[in-house]
Amino acid sequence: MKVKILTIFPELFPGFLGSSLTGKALKEGKWSLDVVNIRDYAFDKHGSVDDTPCGGGAGMVMRPDVLGEAIKANHQSGERIIYMSPRGKVFNQEMAKELSLEKNLTIICGRFEGIDQRIIDAYEIEEVSIGDYVLTGGEQAAQILLDASVRLIEGVLGNSESVEDESFENGLLEHPQYTRPIDWEKKSVPEILLSGHHKKIKEWRLQQSLEITKQKRPDLYKKYLDLQKV
Ligand code: ADE
Repeated sequence: MKVKILTIFPELFPGFLGSSLTGKALKEGKWSLDVVNIRDYAFDKHGSVDDTPCGGGAGMVMRPDVLGEAIKANHQSGERIIYMSPRGKVFNQEMAKELSLEKNLTIICGRFEGIDQRIIDAYEIEEVSIGDYVLTGGEQAAQILLDASVRLIEGVLGNSESVEDESFENGLLEHPQYTRPIDWEKKSVPEILLSGHHKKIKEWRLQQSLEITKQKRPDLYKKYLDLQKV
C-alpha cells in the first residue's frame, strides 16, 4: 500500500507508525509513506494555507486553491482519498480491512475549522472520523487509521500475532486471557483453561465473549444476535 499524507505538520510523521510492527513493515517495504507539506503549495512567501470562514465565525478554513494544488500534484484520480474529520463516517475494523487491500491511499489531515467544502465535492473525498470527539488535528487520527489498516496488510503480522481470535473478528469482543503463574495473589487461572480440552475451551471462550460483549457493548451484542438469525 502506497500512502500519501497531505499535512501542514509533516514532522509528525511517521510518528508511532515508525515503531513496532508498522515500522518494521515500513522498513521492509510492505507499505510506503510519502508525506507532503501543503505549505509547499502556497502562493505567497508566508506560506498561507488558510483564511477566515465566509459568513463569519471562529477559526480558520483551509483554502481550496492551495490544497487543490497539493492534491493535483500528488494524487491520481481513481485512487481513494480520505479527509480525517470528526464529521466523517466512523472508522471501524471493517473499514481497516477494506483499506488494507488498497494499493494507493491519499489522506488529508486538516487543522483549523476544516477545509473548504468545494475541495471535498470536487475530489469526491471520503470524510472519516475516528470517534465522536474533536482532536487538534487530523494527523493523530490518520496515524490511528493507518495503524489499524497496515497491520492487516498480508504478511505484516507474523503467525504468532494472528488476527483470528481478536476482538471484532466474529463481531464480538475478545474473551479474557490468562498466563503463568497459575496462582497469583490467591487468584487462580480458570480451571477449564488448564484442562487441555480444546473443544470445551473454545465453548468457554465463546461464552465469555458473549457475556462481555453483552455487558460492555450492547450495540455489538444486538448486531451479533441479529446476524445469527439470518
Ligand atoms: N480531526 C479532528 N477530530 C477528528 C476525529 N475525531 N476523527 C478524525 N479526524 C479528526
